Amino acid sequence: MSEVLGGYFTSHVPSIGGAIVRGDEQDPYWKPFFDGFPAVRDWLARKRPEIAVVFYNDHGLNFFLDKMPTFAVGAAAEYRNADEGWGLPVYKPFRGAPELSWHIIESLVEQEFDVTMCQEMLVDHALSIPFELAWPDCDAWPVGIVPIAINTVQHPLPSARRCLALGRAVNRAIRSWPGKERIVVIGTGGLSHQLDGQRAGFINPDYDRFCLDHLAADPDALTRDSIRQIVAKGGTQGVEILNWIAARGALGDLALHEASRNYHVPISNTAAATVILEPV
Ligand code: DHB
Ligand code: FE
Repeated sequence: MSEVLGGYFTSHVPSIGGAIVRGDEQDPYWKPFFDGFPAVRDWLARKRPEIAVVFYNDHGLNFFLDKMPTFAVGAAAEYRNADEGWGLPVYKPFRGAPELSWHIIESLVEQEFDVTMCQEMLVDHALSIPFELAWPDCDAWPVGIVPIAINTVQHPLPSARRCLALGRAVNRAIRSWPGKERIVVIGTGGLSHQLDGQRAGFINPDYDRFCLDHLAADPDALTRDSIRQIVAKGGTQGVEILNWIAARGALGDLALHEASRNYHVPISNTAAATVILEPV
């Protein structure tokens, strides 16, 4: 049986990519955020994952408002990044893990999650920035990926409860996979932020702390809020916590240990957080 090594969760603010290109990691603005990453990189180097199952949201690069799947699972041999207009480099291609992708898709549909299956898919900053943070300066990404995109952009959004159930269904799929791969689960986005409207710049450290404190031991506590309540507490883009909730579900119901946590406000308009959870 393949092994779920644990989960890596982080924000995916595009300007992080700019800071990396400029070499600003030790700059006073950026240092408190980048200080969270030696622990992540050490953990990944020790655990040596071969496949990453990545819960993220697309921001208009692959899916636009005209056609927006609630849940989409990649089943490609390769995923390319492309220019989103942030002034970032186009990141190197991501190798797929199509056999595991198809197994997860088949298992999810059997479990009555009617996902969109994508044999071609571009991946945006929500996937590339967390990878660049985890594996800086590598020649080729060390893991193949199964990207799972959750709609956090075009309302109506799936409920937090549904996203946790999706993640748990992905965990059952992984546990029924006969392969032997070492698998890491990744969840990207958040925490609280709002990029538009009258509350642009809104950040809520109390809600962020609540999410961080309950993620490992009681993720169901994060699902009691409706989407409207999550928007009120976390901001219009703070709903990206849905990606963290789904990724937490994919770690299953084993007891988890928080191997590292970093929280820093703000990076750009966002409360930035980075967490590693691993089975006890
Ligand atoms: C920012 C945050 C995001 O999650 C995103 O997708 C784009 C921009 C920001 O804070 O600038
Ligand atoms: Fe985002």
